[in-house]
Amino acid sequence: MLCRLLRVAGAEVKVVMTPTAKEFITPVTMATLSKNPIAVEFYNPENGDWHSHISMGEWADCYLIAPATANTLAKMAYGIADNLLLTTYLSARCQTVVAPAMDCDMFCHEATQENLAKLRERGVVVLESPEGELASGLMGKGRMAEPEQIVEAIDRLLSPKQSLAGRRIMVTAGATIEAIDPVRYISNHSTGKMGYAIAESLARRGAEVVLVSGKTALQTPQGVRRVDVISAEEMYNAAVAEFEGADCAVMCAAVADYTPAEVATSKIKKSDSEFTLALRKTKDIAFELGKVKGARKIVGFALETDNEQSNAEKKLREKNLDMIVLNSLRDKGAGFGCDTNKVTFIDGSQREELPLASKAEVAERIADKIEELF
Ligand code: C5P
Repeated sequence: MLCRLLRVAGAEVKVVMTPTAKEFITPVTMATLSKNPIAVEFYNPENGDWHSHISMGEWADCYLIAPATANTLAKMAYGIADNLLLTTYLSARCQTVVAPAMDCDMFCHEATQENLAKLRERGVVVLESPEGELASGLMGKGRMAEPEQIVEAIDRLLSPKQSLAGRRIMVTAGATIEAIDPVRYISNHSTGKMGYAIAESLARRGAEVVLVSGKTALQTPQGVRRVDVISAEEMYNAAVAEFEGADCAVMCAAVADYTPAEVATSKIKKSDSEFTLALRKTKDIAFELGKVKGARKIVGFALETDNEQSNAEKKLREKNLDMIVLNSLRDKGAGFGCDTNKVTFIDGSQREELPLASKAEVAERIADKIEELF
């Protein structure tokens, strides 16, 4: 089905099968559907013809592994190369996409989740495995994404729509750093992953993106202009300046709410007594931009630990935002540093809860929402 849909969508398809895959479906069937010979072994046992994993990896625009079993994902994560599918993965230069499919307990196992996180970190696109009835008869997560969804995801990756061409969007991301003295500072656990993924997704859709970035170890996404800042005050100044020419702001940064009232010019010495640090409030950048936004759009974030929904709605109103993306620290796999996130979109009238997904996928959904706002 998947193979047929890919061909209908205009793709040329070459199929690599693992030895186990042959037990489920015959190579003849796959060859007929893909209109190309199938590669299973490193060479053709009949005539010794070598199946070059390197040439296959160079030929393809996209390497899709569907279904990707727990075993294959684990081997990919560790660079094991004991079949043609895996040697091709290791030598492929194109985008790799995996559609995991397995029993729910195997899918949820820490080992599998760690392997998936490792692959995501290396840029592999991991498609969402929906909940439903599994081959084992159990219900749960671990089903392979539907073939239509896989084809859609590949289409998006290979021919991104220029749906945001002409739009100028500012994204704030990462943590701010508030100096206490020349040695110490106040900051938070934000890594900037969510904001960077959003900037990347918006730029891929043709928007002109500026990333006002606090501390992060991440690379600037392709086609994105980056303005580095350190403190909340620097971020405020940069954000106000960049918002001038923008059509939309996505406020993803974790900005310090308080900063030391005074920064000591030399290292504060320890003494035997208690030490109290006086803090003053920083400016709320989203709030300040909300006051002057006019027809421009602002998307904010809320990271809550309790009363999530009502706190988020309050922020939406008070900061004059068009939409707020709520993530709760109570959700496993959401929040700081993870490669996944579980968010709820809240705008004036609607509330949409998304399943746990990679930050790249969540970024795509946020970009969809921004398109709708325009
Ligand atoms: O009020 P709270 O900090 O929870 O609001 C979070 C939202 O406000 C985020 O979108 C964040 O980027 C933004 N914010 C800001 N400036 C601040 C504090 C928060 O832009 N000083």
